[in-house]
Amino acid sequence: MTELTIAVAKGRMQDEALRLLARAGIRLSQAALRSRRLAIEDESGAHRLIFVKPSDVPVYVEHGIADCGIVGRDVLLESGADLLQPLDLRIGYCRIAVASGAGEFPKATGALRVATKYPRITAAHFGARGVPVEIIQLSGSVELAAALGLAHCIVDLVETGRTLSENGLKVVEVITESSARLVVNRASYQLKAAAVSRLMGSLRVETEVEGAA
Ligand code: PRP
Repeated sequence: MTELTIAVAKGRMQDEALRLLARAGIRLSQAALRSRRLAIEDESGAHRLIFVKPSDVPVYVEHGIADCGIVGRDVLLESGADLLQPLDLRIGYCRIAVASGAGEFPKATGALRVATKYPRITAAHFGARGVPVEIIQLSGSVELAAALGLAHCIVDLVETGRTLSENGLKVVEVITESSARLVVNRASYQLKAAAVSRLMGSLRVETEVEGAA
């Protein structure tokens, strides 16, 4: 019987997350991995993994459809969902940074136009500094906005820095660092305490091994 449903963020962190889960004993069959199914039971049948867009992981976990989730801290900061975050999984390291063509804050008359997928983080960051901004919300390829003049600068995720440099942008300021977190639904943490604690225990062992390597 399925004990826990775990929401995994699709995309950049998915493979690393699946490797970590496999080392923690939660393995998917090759056929399942090759399939396009979005909800898959692991080989033991004790866990069901669901694959959703990163920003939807907090939604599924907060509503209790998934008991747990694996998602970046950047996404959690942006979502503001009320979740437990008991474990830094020490994978998916990246930064959230302000970037511009010149690598410094452009002189803007009036509000600074900032393009981003992270409007909440952006508003909080510039708000705390008393800098007036006009936030232009995009869904992806954010670097283009600064490269083509839609915005003065961007706030975006930087991992290797390649996308910035290949689009003629430089980091102005790092807002915060991010890595993948295990998140847990508050009710599941109580009602499925034994299963959640087993999962946390095996993930903790694996992240420690990973950190030591
Ligand atoms: C992210 C981010 C940057 C890029 C950074 O985009 O928004 O564009 O990755 O990675 P790098 O520093 O290693 O080059 P993602 O691939 O998630 O796609 P998106 O543009 O659709 O958001």
